[in-house]
Amino acid sequence: MSTGKFIVIEGMEGAGKSSAIAVIESILNEQGIDYINTREPGGTPLAESLRDMVKSVDNQETLTVETELLLMYASRSQLLANKILPALAAGKWVIGDRHDLSSRAYQGGGRGFDESIMNTISDITLKGFRPDITLYLDIDPHIGLSRAKARGDLDRIELEKMDFFIRVHNKYREIAEQDESIVTVDAAQEMLKVHQDIEKSVIAFIAKTALV
Ligand code: TMP
Repeated sequence: MSTGKFIVIEGMEGAGKSSAIAVIESILNEQGIDYINTREPGGTPLAESLRDMVKSVDNQETLTVETELLLMYASRSQLLANKILPALAAGKWVIGDRHDLSSRAYQGGGRGFDESIMNTISDITLKGFRPDITLYLDIDPHIGLSRAKARGDLDRIELEKMDFFIRVHNKYREIAEQDESIVTVDAAQEMLKVHQDIEKSVIAFIAKTALV
């Protein structure tokens, strides 16, 4: 049996990750491909507790940027060992709502951890494991944040200042430009066009894996 594939959806708040995931799910369903969904941080009982810690606003104790970084990778380690690797080994595909690229963008770009620190902690956690394809939904942070605000209560990270999101955005773009496994989708287009672009990329990816 061949191993499954790991498809990751990335992007800033308000980029439209949830509806992009629904598009991918419907393609995999049509093609009869068995899959599981994951989200980061989170996705296992322990990792979901870590997710609550990084997202909740605690007025008594500030989460340090170091703790935030380590919690993201602790969550990723739990998810990788308990969900992602077993599913792929069983031939299932995995649709990931965020993965390592989020840490590179938010903690690397946003918080300013340099690349060598990011590489070290990523290597310890992932041991070279990488998504097969990443769809990065690119959105101007001003537009994305206003969409996220319109949706309701903002979590701890969403309450950051615009400067932070501009740094996150720049880092996403910088990495996406350099990495061939990342497909950038213009998420500012009308929704139908965004979904068509996602469909095209996923169908091309499935066709390519069928040839291998
Ligand atoms: P979301 O997946 O519901 O958008 O929430 C996750 C939040 O956590 C979002 O603000 C991005 C942030 N995040 C990081 O800062 N680093 C990470 O590595 C991950 C996975 C998420």
